[in-house]
Amino acid sequence: MVMWMGKGNKHSLISRMFFTLEPETAHEMAIKGMNLARVSRVSSLMGLSYRIRSPSLQQTIHGIRFENPVGLACFDKNARFIDGAYALGFGFTEIGGVTPLAQPGNPKPRLFRFPKHSSLQNALGFANDGMEVITGRLEDNHPARLPIGINIAKNKVTPNEDAKSDYLKVIKHIHGYADYLTINVSSPNTLGIRELQNETFLKDVFKSARQITTLPLFLKISPDMTPEYAIEICDAAIKGGASGIVATNTSIDYSLLPNAKNFGGISGQALKFKSAKLFKAIAKELYGRTTLISVGGVDSGQEAYYRIRHGASLVELITAFIYNGPSTAKRINKDLLKLMKNDGYRNISEAVGSAL
Ligand SMILES: Cc1cc2nc3c(=O)[nH]c(=O)nc-3n(C[C@H](O)[C@H](O)[C@H](O)COP(=O)(O)O)c2cc1C
Repeated sequence: MVMWMGKGNKHSLISRMFFTLEPETAHEMAIKGMNLARVSRVSSLMGLSYRIRSPSLQQTIHGIRFENPVGLACFDKNARFIDGAYALGFGFTEIGGVTPLAQPGNPKPRLFRFPKHSSLQNALGFANDGMEVITGRLEDNHPARLPIGINIAKNKVTPNEDAKSDYLKVIKHIHGYADYLTINVSSPNTLGIRELQNETFLKDVFKSARQITTLPLFLKISPDMTPEYAIEICDAAIKGGASGIVATNTSIDYSLLPNAKNFGGISGQALKFKSAKLFKAIAKELYGRTTLISVGGVDSGQEAYYRIRHGASLVELITAFIYNGPSTAKRINKDLLKLMKNDGYRNISEAVGSAL
């Protein structure tokens, strides 16, 4: 899936080479290549080149120290890219979705590039190694060099009536190796999972999760709902004990992207406006009451700054990284510093919510 290209192209060369590969093969190669970064001296050297170290970008949120506000959103399904995310300058990485049992995901092909629109469509369906193997890898990497979020999901074979038990199993198993957890009920690629975006389920699952862990718990929502409904379900999650909201996942609004397939979720530039619009609407109501993370089409310092000024304490991205390559987080962080300076902010936390 990776397509890092050289300067002078719309996107960026580690490889036009990657672009010639089938998207998932390219993704796998990138992760294997970056496993070099697991040799900690290599990751430290790369970190010197890609990590922007500035006190102005640092924040402590729910007791977690974030060196910068730019996170990697579920690129790393199986906890094999932790040092890679650090080496490439991200402030944190969200790993997953992790399910109780390993599962192969949906049949291939299930990942499609739309380079003209800097967008992707994916129908992976939580292809992952399962909580036991992933927890083992997290243990080997513990303590990690950057904050780790774990995106929690349910197995495809688990009916919605038993979904709560899947979420709680993963939380129990993995929480010792995470800095925060995200309950994901918003993937478009697991049949029926979005039906769990309802007040009763969310209040209940967060209440039960709260009995297991004191870690910050986030809810990740879909962009395909009205702001009113989104606020209702976010409220229910907060009442149940959620610490924050991650908005948004990919979209099934296929009118967003010319020649879109009629399955899977759209991400990247085609999602940007829709995701930002819902984010702003929920932030109006929820900013100050809970912690907000904005994701969906974030591809520049300007866009990250916009989300931050509208209430996001942190942002995440995946599609922009896939198109623009290793220096994505560095570029965004550098530009954030410039934008903050122009506005007279000494720390990124001063910019959070400043447009509301
Ligand atoms: C290949 C791929 C796999 C994804 N897997 C997950 C996942 O397992 N869990 C999840 O909550 N979101 C997942 N997402 C959604 C992203 O985390 C993010 O919410 C969405 O892509 C919008 O951000 P972007 O425009 O920066 O890509 C995935 C996205 C892509 C492109």
